Amino acid sequence: KGKVAFIAGVADSTGYGWAIAKQLADAGATIIVGTWPPVLKIFQMGLRKGDFEDDSVLTNGGKMEIEKIYPLDAVFDKPEDVPESILTNKRYAGLDGYTISEVAAQVEADYGKIDILVHSLANGPEVTKPLLETSRSGYLAASSASAYSYVSLLQNFAPIMNPGGSALSLTYIASERVIPGYGGGMSSAKSQLESDTRTLAYEAGRKYGIRVNTVSAGPLKSRAASAIGGKGKKKTFIEYAIDYSRANAPMDQDLYSEDVGNAGLYLCSPMARAVTGVTMYVDNGLNCMGMAL
Ligand code: NAI
Repeated sequence: KGKVAFIAGVADSTGYGWAIAKQLADAGATIIVGTWPPVLKIFQMGLRKGDFEDDSVLTNGGKMEIEKIYPLDAVFDKPEDVPESILTNKRYAGLDGYTISEVAAQVEADYGKIDILVHSLANGPEVTKPLLETSRSGYLAASSASAYSYVSLLQNFAPIMNPGGSALSLTYIASERVIPGYGGGMSSAKSQLESDTRTLAYEAGRKYGIRVNTVSAGPLKSRAASAIGGKGKKKTFIEYAIDYSRANAPMDQDLYSEDVGNAGLYLCSPMARAVTGVTMYVDNGLNCMGMAL
């Protein structure tokens, strides 16, 4: 029986979540995804119109099929957590069951046990503000959406994962080095995510026999990255980051989402059965540089 992979944080074909889903599909996995309610309709419409066809082609000539899309808001764990402002929000109208525990229960009802869990989501409402100007609520919101969401996903999905299964998230070098412009407490949230990867690897390894890793990815012009800021300047944050990487990384080549997809496939496959608790750089090597020439 083929493996089932749940990828949280897919809403178009430009991001890392899609790229990982695609490589997993290429290797024969069944793909199900969790999508943030505010972008769910646009995503479903895009799929129906065939907007992502070109980005769905597999090596055998077939197409990646997303078997099911679950509305998922990863800042809520249980129905009781959803505030009135969200319940009455137009963008959530007609939807329910989008808290993490409810999605896990639906996935279990639909598929029984799954094998692969991917966390490819982040959100920081004050990302454009320097840390020194970030509010407490902005900082905690970044941490809630971008770091605790991984803890909660594992809490709720590990019990429905087969031993030998694997969890993966995406992080960024701003967790350990200063990246001006990556603000709002997002750098702090990524530090948490990487530290938690180690602790969760130990706890989930011992309790469930599953592996927990994170990929520290180089810059990619995804929808989320385009929101980081720098609008009105000569280059946006992400354009600057991509050019800087190209100019200074050991490998003088473009970084494609597929590069991260392939590393994700490796980490989630039995080839990596002894690899857990790691932060793996997929960044053309930029992380090892100490000085730019
Ligand atoms: P993306 O826009 O494809 O993915 C982010 C997703 O998170 C979106 O689909 C968004 O709807 C979803 N999301 C936001 N808040 C959510 C919530 N409360 N509940 C559920 N989903 C929510 O962009 P990208 O860049 O591919 O991001 C994926 C991961 O990769 C993120 O963790 C990001 O920090 C990380 N990453 C991205 C880099 C880049 O340069 N694009 C570099 C290194 C890491």
